[in-house]
Amino acid sequence: MVDYNALKARINALTEGEHDAVALMATLACELHHSDARFDWTGFYRVTAPGLLKIGPYQGGHGCLVIPFERGVCGACARTGDVQLVADVEAFEGHIACSSSTRSEIVLPVRDAAGALIAVLDIDSDQPDAFTPADAEALGRILDVVFARRSLT
Ligand code: SME
Repeated sequence: MVDYNALKARINALTEGEHDAVALMATLACELHHSDARFDWTGFYRVTAPGLLKIGPYQGGHGCLVIPFERGVCGACARTGDVQLVADVEAFEGHIACSSSTRSEIVLPVRDAAGALIAVLDIDSDQPDAFTPADAEALGRILDVVFARRSLT
């Protein structure tokens, strides 16, 4: 199980002074992915046009490239602005299966300093019901420090 305090300290050190959004996403995808055996796919989908997500930096197998806000768990997060904590992806209507081994998923909104949605963070697990509200809270705090408390380029 990930030590979120240690992870947050490591990410803060690695990203200090960095303002490039893609570099920040790439660093988080790497550090998050390798921090916990539950995380089998870890990555970002960026808002590239109104109502449209496109893949960003990720770790794990191939991820689908484009997700409209109307589709999938990522689209639900982007559409509502709410964290999606999915215990069983088979029970989520419209789930997009990039891997047949995925059993549960968490998706969080990524906002900039103005509060605008710039991306979603998607983490898939091959374990059923792998994610908890504590994961959502800790991951949200990390996203806030990295993306919402600095100017992005
Ligand atoms: N499962 C996501 C799609 C992204 S792949 O899992 C990397 C969804 O339903 O939006």
